[in-house]
Amino acid sequence: MTDKIDSLKSEALAESANITDEKALEEFRLKYLGRNGLVNDLFEEFKKVDKESKGNLGKLLNDLKVSAQDIFNERKENLNLSVKKIEDYTDTTLPGFKNNIGTKHLINQALEEITSIFKKIGFNIHEGFEIEDEYHNFDALNTPDYHPSRDMQDTFYLESKGKDNSYLLRTHTSPGQIRVLEESKPPVRVLIPGKVYRNETVSSRSLAVFHQIEGLYVDKNVNFKELKGTLNYFANEFFGEKLRTRLRPSFFPFTEPSAEMDVECYLCEGKGCRICKYTGWLEILGCGMVNPKVFEKIGYDPEEYSGFAFGMGIERTLLNKYMIPDIRLFYENDVRFLKQF
Ligand code: PHE
Repeated sequence: MTDKIDSLKSEALAESANITDEKALEEFRLKYLGRNGLVNDLFEEFKKVDKESKGNLGKLLNDLKVSAQDIFNERKENLNLSVKKIEDYTDTTLPGFKNNIGTKHLINQALEEITSIFKKIGFNIHEGFEIEDEYHNFDALNTPDYHPSRDMQDTFYLESKGKDNSYLLRTHTSPGQIRVLEESKPPVRVLIPGKVYRNETVSSRSLAVFHQIEGLYVDKNVNFKELKGTLNYFANEFFGEKLRTRLRPSFFPFTEPSAEMDVECYLCEGKGCRICKYTGWLEILGCGMVNPKVFEKIGYDPEEYSGFAFGMGIERTLLNKYMIPDIRLFYENDVRFLKQF
């Protein structure tokens, strides 16, 4: 049997030279490697061999099989048949796989919706700085030294060299008002969207980072009526026309007079419920006429110019609008939550 194996091996080797096309290759495969091929015939014969010779013969037989397979592979490769075309194994009639397409984050959606509402009435977008200095975040906004918001407990200060003007993470988007007025002369109508930072304990209602949108309109003879009209236009577009709004007197150092705007509770439509703490109203933003002191500080004549400003927190507005129970959900990136919007 050893002889048979040897001669088959040399035969296959000799024949390999004749494999010059696909047909010859297939004939080779059938003759040697096929189920009824010569190699398998020898394996059949091998079954009858007595136990003692099995070890050695088995090894030789396996070598033969591997050699024949090697010849086949090598010729196949030479004939360039190894690369199967994609059409050979793709069933183009099967339905394709669906890709999961991501969506915009809820906060970005809201930022886009709000800015597009204001763009329609001529507001432009201005990107402020997240790292601000004390001057823009407080001084120029008429916020006195003793104001509690300046406290380390509320503001993240950055290590900075200059003692007179330390750097900090902006606590609101209002310093953008000053930046805009430093850059361009009125009339200006801008929105300043972005992240703000406050040193707050994280809880279901507050985070140390959140988003605000600031609005600023400065020109000659801007009055409170225009502020009210602009904000009502916004509330109608964003919350729907059914819900009424109201302005409540308030205080901000950089606006005078100042107010806060409430919108009727979306859930109970003003009747009073858990969400609005049974008042029927939800606070949505702070606003007011630009304080003449601010104009003076940055070199504008308050007799010549007037303006209004407003600022709203995005997360808080969304918590109410969609009755989201915990503000931390916005940042956990759980698709089961995000997919819903
Ligand atoms: N900056 C104020 C805040 O963070 C909001 C505000 C903006 C109020 C503009 C009046 C005018 O609460």
